[in-house]
Amino acid sequence: MLTRYLNMQKKLVVTFLTGASILMLAFSNYNSLAGEEWTADTYVYEALAELGDTKPVFYLEKIDPAMVQKGYDLVHHGRTEDQKGKSKYISLYYVCTNCHNTVIEDPVLTDYDPQARLEFAIQNNLHFFQGTTFYGSVNRESWYNDDYYKKYGDMVRPAQKDIREAIQLCAKECSKGRYLEEWEETAILSYYYSISYKMRDLGFSITDINEINSRKSSTSSHAGIISLIKSKYALKSPAHWLEPPYELAANMPPGNPENGKFIYELSCQACHKAYGVSDVVFEDSQLQFNKFKKNFDKDYWWLYSIVRHGTYGYPGHEPYMPLYTAERMNDQQVEDLKAYFIQQAN
Ligand code: HEC
Ligand code: HEC
Repeated sequence: MLTRYLNMQKKLVVTFLTGASILMLAFSNYNSLAGEEWTADTYVYEALAELGDTKPVFYLEKIDPAMVQKGYDLVHHGRTEDQKGKSKYISLYYVCTNCHNTVIEDPVLTDYDPQARLEFAIQNNLHFFQGTTFYGSVNRESWYNDDYYKKYGDMVRPAQKDIREAIQLCAKECSKGRYLEEWEETAILSYYYSISYKMRDLGFSITDINEINSRKSSTSSHAGIISLIKSKYALKSPAHWLEPPYELAANMPPGNPENGKFIYELSCQACHKAYGVSDVVFEDSQLQFNKFKKNFDKDYWWLYSIVRHGTYGYPGHEPYMPLYTAERMNDQQVEDLKAYFIQQAN
């Protein structure tokens, strides 16, 4: 299995590298419409703006590097410097990166296949989290999609249309923290822009590049190039809730414990570790796995229940566990985790 991952990854890297160098060559001499040269490092949002695509409401005309740094601090460390010195922590319990990655996590940007994402996480040593990556989040066109209204009700409506509102909702509700001041919100947004898609991330084929080049001289309509660019990444991160597959129980293909081990390490233990966000520490001990196995004897569905429903905080104990949507963990992966627990128990 591992060899298969490795082979896949090698192929991926090779495709990536060739793709990137072709891109750099192709774009390096490319005089775009406004006279600015596009390169593989050109931000997609800048390219789209140049092409006349409607700018989002939160668009930043100028990105201040000092604000990017403050945004980085807020996201990774939970606070930063303000005029008075150290600012207040956003949350006493979490930082944003407890639930979100900040690099590309899907090998194919139009796809939301959790198994492809897990394999990519294994190869790149990333976490496998409930929240989507912040990389490319400003390139999306809606947030908190689909079933999230069930948890946050009307609060998601503005957040679906404006990433600033999504940042606030997550700072206050997902993080069990506070609303951000406007400069903090702008700092995080600036940081997001710094980790938004670049042309090299989009995996253009040679045909695509030829098409871009042949259309560049056409000044009339750039709609074709805009839609070509936007066809290379998902414009939203879909989010569907699942119930345990009660009716399928006996028919689920058996789980793969090797895959389950990765889920345990890259997901569960990211929070359930010493000094992690949960007080409940999951070890790699015999005792631990025996406990998990015993849970199945009591309740066949306990693992599905925790994955699909998460937990809720209560007054006096705010930390909670976010649920995994169908797009963030599939049923087969839950079976894999279960198979790993049972294999390790005695
Ligand atoms: C306890 C877990 C948790 C923490 C901490 C957390 N988030 Fe989230 N966040 C989520 C989940 C779950 C979602 C919904 C799934 C998703 O990402 O689409 C989400 C969604 C988002 C979205 C919308 C993403 C999208 O594409 O729909 C943004 C933006 C966001 N969070 C920003 C933040 C920021 C900023 C922080 C830190 C201040 C933060 N989050 C902290 C769990 C968390
Ligand atoms: C983003 C952080 C996070 C991730 C990832 C996570 N959990 Fe949790 N989990 C929590 C928190 C917080 C609680 C609430 C318990 C507490 O306050 O410590 C919790 C509670 C639980 C509980 C109930 C524990 C008890 O005794 O009350 C179980 C079981 C559990 N998680 C299993 C898992 C499994 C299995 C995974 C991996 C598929 C997982 N968790 C991934 C944060 C997380």
